[in-house]
Amino acid sequence: MSEITSKKNILLIGGGGYIGTSMMDDYSKNTKISKINCIDRLIYKSQNIDKKIIRNRKINFFKGDFRNRKLLNKALKGVSDVIILAGLVGDPITKKYKKLSENINYIGIKNLIKFLNKNKNLKKLIFISTCSNYGIVKNKLADENTKLLPKSHYAVSKVNIEKYILNFKKKNFCPVILRFSTAFGYSPRMRYDLTINEFCRDIHKNKELVVYDPYTWRPYCHVKDFSRIVFKVLISDNNIVRNQVFNVGSNQNNYRKIDLVNLLKKYKKNSKIIILKKKVDPRDYRVNFNKLTRILKIKPKFSVKYGIKEIFKKIKNNKISKDHGNHIIKSDVKK
Ligand SMILES: NC(=O)c1ccc[n+]([C@@H]2O[C@H](COP(=O)([O-])OP(=O)(O)OC[C@H]3O[C@@H](n4cnc5c(N)ncnc54)[C@H](O)[C@@H]3O)[C@@H](O)[C@H]2O)c1
Repeated sequence: MSEITSKKNILLIGGGGYIGTSMMDDYSKNTKISKINCIDRLIYKSQNIDKKIIRNRKINFFKGDFRNRKLLNKALKGVSDVIILAGLVGDPITKKYKKLSENINYIGIKNLIKFLNKNKNLKKLIFISTCSNYGIVKNKLADENTKLLPKSHYAVSKVNIEKYILNFKKKNFCPVILRFSTAFGYSPRMRYDLTINEFCRDIHKNKELVVYDPYTWRPYCHVKDFSRIVFKVLISDNNIVRNQVFNVGSNQNNYRKIDLVNLLKKYKKNSKIIILKKKVDPRDYRVNFNKLTRILKIKPKFSVKYGIKEIFKKIKNNKISKDHGNHIIKSDVKK
């Protein structure tokens, strides 16, 4: 597979979050990436950016809203490729802030893509979508052609943006859609509102863990693997990835919640776990990731077991004790 050898100057939109800060950390050590610009409004209460990250000479951090055109133009200077991570992320937060999430996740992102489509200097535009788009898939693994059944405001916006992107059929524009699995693992901006991270924290702290929908399936992927795979997309030939959708994760990391609990019990005996059969979240999907490996010749390296041990160790060493999650938005973010 032919790869691009020139160095990359990237812009991470929404790079101040859980996945973005882990990417910045990784890419700051990557010699094939010369510059990392990041635009993020840091919309959550108590959300900050780690000083160590922005002190890095390769990184330029622009604090503000990506819908602010003046700021966006500044952040786009000299940039070869853009990765869109920004948004209100997750079902609970988009349910709680319905109008704001519509404004950012759909209208804001749509206008952003329309604007970037006119930028002739851009090599690639990578839109981070989600496997949540599959909603419910029974008795088979969902691949990129499986019908999408979004079950939340969050996923509905993602599906609509995907459709919008796929309608551009221009040769000189190279959008790529990556449907991420549910993330886990350590990041400088930790999120404990994600299943594996939350389970690890509660079990480690001997808190009672209440598990709903125990038999529902979901695919998981370590944040470090997302950054490896996005980089692979960045350096891939445009002809291979243009207008393509890839599920990002690994077939081995499809788990039911009950399997995660059983795994966790091996690491922490006498855990207080309550399993409720009650249905809270209808999503139930297993995903097939063969296209990623077949076309991009890459697959995730980090297992769920690795992530559990990593988080336990970090919590033990007091590295990630704060509860950063997508819960409350700063009061100045009105629309
Ligand atoms: N975390 C997961 O499990 C997961 C799974 C599938 C897909 N994804 C996708 O990956 C991306 C990143 O997820 P994450 O877990 O890092 O979420 P996150 O909430 O930690 O990060 C999102 C960032 O976007 C920023 N943001 C929101 N609105 C903004 C605006 N108007 N202007 C500027 N910045 C804004 C927030 O401040 C935040 O830092 C999202 O697009 C998400 O849908 C995440």
